[in-house]
Amino acid sequence: MSQTSHDRLLIIDFGSQVTQLIARRLRELNVYCEIHPYQNVTDAFLTEFAPKAIIFSGGPDSVVREGSPRPPRSAYDLGVPILGICYGQQVMMQDLGGTVEAGESHTAEFGRAYVKPTEARIDFMNGWFLDGTGREQVWMSHGDHVSHIAPGFEVYATSPGAPFAITADLDRRFYAVQFHPEVHHTPNGKTLYENFVRDAGFTGDWTMDAYREEAIRKIKDQVGDKPVICALSGGVDSSVAAALLHEAIGDQLTCVFVDHGLLRLNEADEVVAMFRDHMNLKVIHAQEQDLFLGELEGVSDPETKRKIIGRLFIEVFQKYADQIEGAEFLAQGTLYPDVIESVSFSGGPSVTIKSHHNVGGLPEKMGLKLVEPLRELFKDEVRVLGRELGLPDSFIGRHPFPGPGLAIRCPGEITREKLDILRKADAVYIDQIRKHGLYDDIWQAFVAILPVRTVGVMGDGRTYDFACALRAVTSVDGMTADYYPFTHEFLGETATRIINEVKGINRCTYDITSKPPGTIEWE
Ligand code: XMP
Repeated sequence: MSQTSHDRLLIIDFGSQVTQLIARRLRELNVYCEIHPYQNVTDAFLTEFAPKAIIFSGGPDSVVREGSPRPPRSAYDLGVPILGICYGQQVMMQDLGGTVEAGESHTAEFGRAYVKPTEARIDFMNGWFLDGTGREQVWMSHGDHVSHIAPGFEVYATSPGAPFAITADLDRRFYAVQFHPEVHHTPNGKTLYENFVRDAGFTGDWTMDAYREEAIRKIKDQVGDKPVICALSGGVDSSVAAALLHEAIGDQLTCVFVDHGLLRLNEADEVVAMFRDHMNLKVIHAQEQDLFLGELEGVSDPETKRKIIGRLFIEVFQKYADQIEGAEFLAQGTLYPDVIESVSFSGGPSVTIKSHHNVGGLPEKMGLKLVEPLRELFKDEVRVLGRELGLPDSFIGRHPFPGPGLAIRCPGEITREKLDILRKADAVYIDQIRKHGLYDDIWQAFVAILPVRTVGVMGDGRTYDFACALRAVTSVDGMTADYYPFTHEFLGETATRIINEVKGINRCTYDITSKPPGTIEWE
């Protein structure tokens, strides 16, 4: 639990894949919130957390199943507003005396739906959720449904598959919605959250300026006059973390840039030059390519790759930390989504898709204490903070780059030969994107080298070289993504350039998978 002086909202996570988006919407409203898995939310936790409002997330379970997840009963007695979403709605109904029935085909709803206000509640709903057109698009994803609402509640809106799409008990300020107002497919969802938090008395005091001051104070309190070692990856997150730490503790900070041999073309030199020359930070360039590539030799399984890289990262850090006298702290650019994801796989209710190396590989008994000044921020908030700290726009605007680097863009076995080819192809691809002025429209773009060779013909000769896949996605948070709709001209020109300029590749494909069902990275 974080020590913040702001009013806070508690999101109790029942395992929905989109719980983070609730937090995202609330942060946009300058409301401080934290997500905690339901197992951790005990009576004592609630007392200590002292939320000003609570949201119950959706979740994959069924409330009709014996032993399914529940919030503590005391949540309802705190006298604070509660919003239940999807599974959270059903939990609230059942806990407070309503009935939920297991899904049948005619009551299940998945995807787009439209809710309409009940006759008696049109006026209220027009201010609260609807924009006056009489119906509102929402995103449904439920199998079970509420069949009787709890005493004290009234129906405010219905949809064809959900007669209780929105119900509320205005006296107790309990609201229950069957759909997901946090996803983009519920276009007016932000208004619903806005009304909910305004009603709860939030003033919107969570701003980046306030965050920066608070973060600097917390860093100073935590580390005192001890040396801190910072894991610099060259990505936006660790760069902003380093800049923030530098502002807080100056020369007490030493950055270690681990060159694991899985970086992009010229990346290591550029990053080290920027931090040493532009920002005057102490930077150690750890040349550990042989160590990482050696241990990865012959490994194809994606999770094994991630685990190896995560473990070596920590080991390497310890090695360098040992050389810095008195170093007790390790700083990392861990973001809020990483925290949530690692909470989930260590006992939270949602399914683990990938182990993020920056948190997942962290051994319990590491000899260093962690400083993670961005733990409460989302990516776009980190960018705002980075700009405020004076990092160049060209750097802040860079696409995210994963900690395991090119390893997860090289499905199958990783070899130096493949990595060299991949680096060159990636550089051509990004150059193309920049030349066409598309870089800032894209969340992330990269090349993956495929573990397959294909036959081609160049000049009069036969080639038998690697195929690669180009990936470019739009996204707001990395949680969901759509492929970028390049023109055929762009794709053709880029494929021609890559095949002509990069020896070792003779075929290019474009990956048009969205997330879900795909993920952004290939592994
Ligand atoms: P996926 O592939 O899960 O990626 O759709 C979502 C976002 O997370 C990045 N990513 C990582 N970032 N450590 C990181 O710091 C990791 O282990 C990691 N794995 C994926 C990915 O690049 C995308 O932006």
